[in-house]
Amino acid sequence: MKNLLTVLTVFALLSLVACEGPAGPAGKDGATGKDGAKGQDAGFVYFDGFKEGLKCASCHNPDTDTVFFKSAATFQWNASKHANGGTAFESGSSCAECHTTEGFVQKMSGKTVTEQANSSPVGCFACHSPHKNGDFTLRNSSAVTLFSNLTGVADYSFDYGKGNLCAQCHRPRTQAVKLDPSKSTSTDAVNDSIRITSGRWYSHYGVQSQMLMGKGGYEWSNAPEAVSNSFHTTSTSIKADGCTICHMTKAQGNYSGGHSMRLETEEEGMNLNGCKTSGCHATITTLDYKGAMTTTHKNLDTLKVLLAQAGWLDTLTMQAKASSTKPLVIKPSQKAGALWNFFLVEHDLSAGVHNTAYANALLRNSIAKMRGQF
Ligand code: HEC
Ligand code: HEC
Ligand code: HEC
Ligand code: HEC
Ligand code: HEC
Repeated sequence: MKNLLTVLTVFALLSLVACEGPAGPAGKDGATGKDGAKGQDAGFVYFDGFKEGLKCASCHNPDTDTVFFKSAATFQWNASKHANGGTAFESGSSCAECHTTEGFVQKMSGKTVTEQANSSPVGCFACHSPHKNGDFTLRNSSAVTLFSNLTGVADYSFDYGKGNLCAQCHRPRTQAVKLDPSKSTSTDAVNDSIRITSGRWYSHYGVQSQMLMGKGGYEWSNAPEAVSNSFHTTSTSIKADGCTICHMTKAQGNYSGGHSMRLETEEEGMNLNGCKTSGCHATITTLDYKGAMTTTHKNLDTLKVLLAQAGWLDTLTMQAKASSTKPLVIKPSQKAGALWNFFLVEHDLSAGVHNTAYANALLRNSIAKMRGQF
């Protein structure tokens, strides 16, 4: 009881501090309070940060879970790459904010992200804060600023409802060696070149947010094909639920959808529940809708061969053929846009599903650029 009152007193004082300036010294603990009823409150010590009056058993129940169905979520999560992708060990101070629960919580709490010697993968407490909130509301779903990584192109805001949580991690990292779209028609091979000094000349791997928005690609102003976006970019349902509308759709056999976030598995095949969202694709039979994935793979393969022939792409490591000792110099710089676009579409991993029109216009223009057609 005494502990509980102390915690409550501190809470009350803290809220006073917030609006009324410095508080005086803590008052004496009350002496005459009634003991709580037997059960949850009796003698219970509330830990710092736990929601007041939290009923542990609404989640940690003796037998059957009827409130949140947490066990099902845990079961699905166990099948996800979040749980078992293995990158929770990328726990250095510049990686932990996306690869570990501990680093992400630091970031979302406005703290400096530090190296996490004892790291765990992106789990329940990354996306939710069940002990603090007493439920599974999302830890954060505000709009996210994405780095454009192109000279002269301002960063932009990603705002797709619940999907904003995903974009906190599935977003580009900064890239120091930037292309300049205003030079997209440059023929100045004497003064205009780009010097790539790392094989990882791309915006890391979480480019799905950019792809859905139709941003991040290198666009030539004299390219044969105008770049546009698919319906997914502007759909009001996708604008509201973002990534979750497809990836967290009704689970199928508990191996896809839901917290597995996977849409295709060996065991269960494709999960089309999200595609069939009312007003979308009522009669769809495959994720490869109208052959979009097949087409994207074909374009990626063609471009890959052209980039390898130019000596720009290492097809074993799937990185640029560049290092600090052996930089890759491309002249005029705009030609490197083809390599940039290849990495963007390749790392998106949806084979064009996120934004078929955008991905394939970038690829076709890049192929034409490598073939010297413009
Ligand atoms: C809104 C749901 C919810 C409530 C209420 C809740 N917990 Fe939890 N708790 C979780 C989840 C989710 C986990 C993560 C592990 C899992 O999936 O079981 C967890 C894990 C834990 C763990 C293991 C810690 C760890 O790091 O693995 C402890 C201990 C715990 N809770 C104690 C409590 C106590 C004590 C209360 C009541 C004061 C409480 N919980 C109330 C959802 C809840
Ligand atoms: C805290 C950061 C973080 C958040 C938030 C996050 N992810 Fe991830 N996600 C990752 C990381 C890191 C990986 C790669 C894990 C690995 O390979 O170890 C990943 C992997 C995935 C994969 C599997 C990719 C593959 O290559 O098979 C999918 C699908 C996915 N995330 C979807 C989502 C969706 C949808 C959301 C939002 C509901 C989301 N993620 C939120 C960090 C995050
Ligand atoms: C802004 C968030 C973010 C940061 C910071 C970040 N990563 Fe990642 N990383 C991701 C996401 C998201 C994925 C998974 C993408 C997917 O599978 O779709 C990923 C994937 C990876 C992969 C797997 C690549 C593959 O081919 O499957 C490695 C390795 C990796 N990151 C290493 C690192 C290292 C090392 C750092 C720090 C130097 C780092 N990451 C920093 C978000 C981030
Ligand atoms: C990568 C982010 C992410 C991780 C990790 C994650 N969740 Fe969730 N969770 C979500 C999102 C997003 C939703 C909302 C889904 C929706 O409304 O479509 C959600 C919804 C839920 C719900 C349903 C809430 C309700 O009120 O209907 C439960 C229960 C839940 N999560 C439990 C868990 C548990 C337990 C874990 C850990 C095993 C976990 N989550 C891990 C993102 C995540
Ligand atoms: C319109 C539905 C839809 C939306 C919206 C969507 N995705 Fe996807 N995503 C897919 C499909 C379909 C695939 C391909 C899955 C496959 O081939 O197994 C995919 C693939 C992925 C992959 C690679 C998974 C793998 O297994 O290789 C990641 C990671 C991913 N999406 C993350 C996201 C993120 C993050 C968002 C939000 C920014 C998002 N997606 C929005 C449908 C969607």
